[in-house]
Amino acid sequence: MPAVLGADLEVPVKGGRLVGYANLDYAASAPCLEPVSAAVTAALPAYSSVHRGAGYASQLTTARYEQARHTVRAFVGARPDDAVIFTRNTTDATNLLARCLPAGTTTVVFDTEHHASLLPWEKSVRLAPPAFPGEAVRAADAALAGIDGPKLLVVTAASNVTGELWPIAALAHVAHRHGARILVDAAQLVPHRRLNLTALDLDYVAFSGHKLYAPFGAGVLVGRRDWLADGEPYLKGGGAVRSVGDDTEWHDDPEPRHEAGTPNVLGAIALAAACDALTATGWTALVREEERLIARLRSGLASIEGVRELSLWGDDHPRVGIVSFTVAGYSAREVAEVLSGEYGIGVRDGKFCAHPFVRHLLGEADGGCEDGTASAVRASIGIGSTQEHVDRLVEAVRDLVNR
Ligand SMILES: Cc1ncc(COP(=O)(O)O)c(C=O)c1O
Repeated sequence: MPAVLGADLEVPVKGGRLVGYANLDYAASAPCLEPVSAAVTAALPAYSSVHRGAGYASQLTTARYEQARHTVRAFVGARPDDAVIFTRNTTDATNLLARCLPAGTTTVVFDTEHHASLLPWEKSVRLAPPAFPGEAVRAADAALAGIDGPKLLVVTAASNVTGELWPIAALAHVAHRHGARILVDAAQLVPHRRLNLTALDLDYVAFSGHKLYAPFGAGVLVGRRDWLADGEPYLKGGGAVRSVGDDTEWHDDPEPRHEAGTPNVLGAIALAAACDALTATGWTALVREEERLIARLRSGLASIEGVRELSLWGDDHPRVGIVSFTVAGYSAREVAEVLSGEYGIGVRDGKFCAHPFVRHLLGEADGGCEDGTASAVRASIGIGSTQEHVDRLVEAVRDLVNR
């Protein structure tokens, strides 16, 4: 496994002691991989302007930036003619696509989505959380059948709340049967599983570098060129134009058309280095270790009275390294503060930018969340997570419950 920066970080806990930080908040932002940091450090001495300069350093920086595009293309198994557009993050990527949809496009989206995939659409049909994966396919089928004109199905590959994997191949099939396209929000999938856009027959995927061990502010939208080539330039300015006179002639190629201004070249280099590092590590080893740790975490939490894991499709449904849970008698914020302040454990609490979904998951068991305070604790793991971190979390929650 590649090393992560900060693995030896020590943090203060109650009483002033220092303990090793147990970072269990990878789903929010994953730590930086050592090879990512090395790639950025290696690029810095020649860091210069991109796409503009004749100087050697400019040419080198431009070549590295464009190489990053190729790396990302290969990482997601994109078709040779797919566009690869660097953005700020997943939210930026979904908003970019939203601006490029043909006039009158209807988007079909589940209420289980992260806000980045739920909110950018001008005209959308919202579907209730499906009771089982086949129901997701059936509901999308019915919704798409009732829509005329251009349509787009938007779905997250792995939930940022429950970690559960969605049936994206079946959903792509249904979308295409109705002449629709599909956008997959892969923000929580790509750090954990291999994605092959071509094999899955996806039209677009979006993800963020900072969740993929590349905390340098870049994301990406990959997919079919035509809508992106026809869409209004996302940002208007230098780089997006061929010439400016009485008329402005915009680039037709989606990459320059939507990447006006100086791009985040170090972010792109970092993102590509993370893709390379994950590929070099090998998915089999990554998945095996993650599944071992997440199984240990889930069974540990399940053994504590009053702890309830949030799940849409049940205990046995496949998932990535994300577990959200509640602790009876404590608010999620109280749990997260105790974990941090007394045990040096970092988790997330709240509704994880997926308000309708978390409300749905909590509402069923907790009699609703009318007071607006209902929320959950989320623990998430990845490269660099250890058995000690997982065990520390389980024992900390057990101690809290037994107080
Ligand atoms: C599934 C999913 N989609 C989109 C996003 C948004 O990512 P970003 O904040 O990098 O735009 C997140 C982040 O939490 C996420 O988990």
